[in-house]
Amino acid sequence: MLAQEIIRAKREGMALDEAQIQHFVRGLVDGSWSEGQVAALGMAIFLRGMGRAEAVALTRAMMHSGRVLAWPDMPGPVLDKHSSGGVGDKISLMLAPLVAACGGYVPMIAGRGLGHTGGTVDKLEAIPGYQTAPAPADFDRIVRTLGCAVIGQTGDLAPADKRFYATRDVTATVESVPLITASILSKKLAAGLQGLAMDIKCGNGAFAATPAFGQELAQSIVDVAAGAGLKTRALITDMNQVLGWEVGNALEVRGAIDYLRGDLPREPRTHELTLALGAEMLVLGGLAADTPAARRRLQAALDSGAAAERFAAMVAALGGPADLLDHPQAHLPTAPVVRPVPAPRAGRLTGMRTRDIGLVIVELGGGRRQPGDAIDMRVGLDRMRQLGDVLSEGDPVAMVHAADDAAADRAIAQVLASITLDDASAPWTASPLVMA
Ligand code: URA
Repeated sequence: MLAQEIIRAKREGMALDEAQIQHFVRGLVDGSWSEGQVAALGMAIFLRGMGRAEAVALTRAMMHSGRVLAWPDMPGPVLDKHSSGGVGDKISLMLAPLVAACGGYVPMIAGRGLGHTGGTVDKLEAIPGYQTAPAPADFDRIVRTLGCAVIGQTGDLAPADKRFYATRDVTATVESVPLITASILSKKLAAGLQGLAMDIKCGNGAFAATPAFGQELAQSIVDVAAGAGLKTRALITDMNQVLGWEVGNALEVRGAIDYLRGDLPREPRTHELTLALGAEMLVLGGLAADTPAARRRLQAALDSGAAAERFAAMVAALGGPADLLDHPQAHLPTAPVVRPVPAPRAGRLTGMRTRDIGLVIVELGGGRRQPGDAIDMRVGLDRMRQLGDVLSEGDPVAMVHAADDAAADRAIAQVLASITLDDASAPWTASPLVMA
């Protein structure tokens, strides 16, 4: 079988059979498919699509491209959450320890930034010493003893996705229902889960820009997961603005710590989404009878400090500083230049081109232009205003954290070009965070 013939078949819109898909996935792992061939098939699939049977075959082949974990004798349900990718989406950092504090076991294999979106693994690597690729025995032990460990894809877990993901990131082939489905589920199935809550982001900062795409992706993930025996619930959630106050790796870790500690009021949309996804997980795992009971349990774990303690213990167990929660400023890297983005006039913030804001972070150095690029953990935006906020002229729309003044100047101009300010007296209705 020849790689170029498989690419040609898909280019012509033909359905690939299982043998062709397995050939591709083997080629991803053993290197027998060149980078050009991987990119070409990715683009052909992007343009021509895949039927459900092909998506199932791709998911299965990628799942079995490496080790498949099993969690025998766990005292509680093995659960996870995954987001289809957003801007400022730091929910996994809080949710894993929160669900662990409620009795779940969360072996979270998270991803890196993709396109304009951030990745949980990149964020965690902002924590000095944190090992996102621990030895398998350590991962197993930490999940069993602490209830959660958030790590990256190791070389032996869904390695086909690891390579394909990196190629898709830089070849504009991300926004494809079968490719996203196979990418997400291959990792989740390889992690040996019993229940998965999916956060399908929808809007101008998501790969699913329209509700129709969001619905199609949710349906595809739920169907393919069910076919593989994994109970999955999907929420479709709004990504027409940055999620929360921070975007950028170290800044989002700081935001997650503030959220877990709860010393300051929690950003309402971040809190709502954390509870909504956490409730899905607890109900999936039989840890709560229904959504209201689940939300009460989650809130109690936040209020008691139990979730914050789990996060601190996980960070320390994975090599990070033992006092990160008490002294985040002593450990998280900070940018040398911090400047406000001043509102050019008074008005209400009514629109955000969220994808462009994600690209601001990439251009500041907080994301990659090429696979393997180093990331500047320090950069990003914080104190980001939310849609509906009313600003006076000169009020900061956000604070830019940059490596130097020139980068800050560019970012300030780009953020201003990405937002809409309207008359504050015009009627305003916030769109719902959980759309379906
Ligand atoms: N998240 C993933 O893990 N894979 C994708 O393709 C998109 C989002």
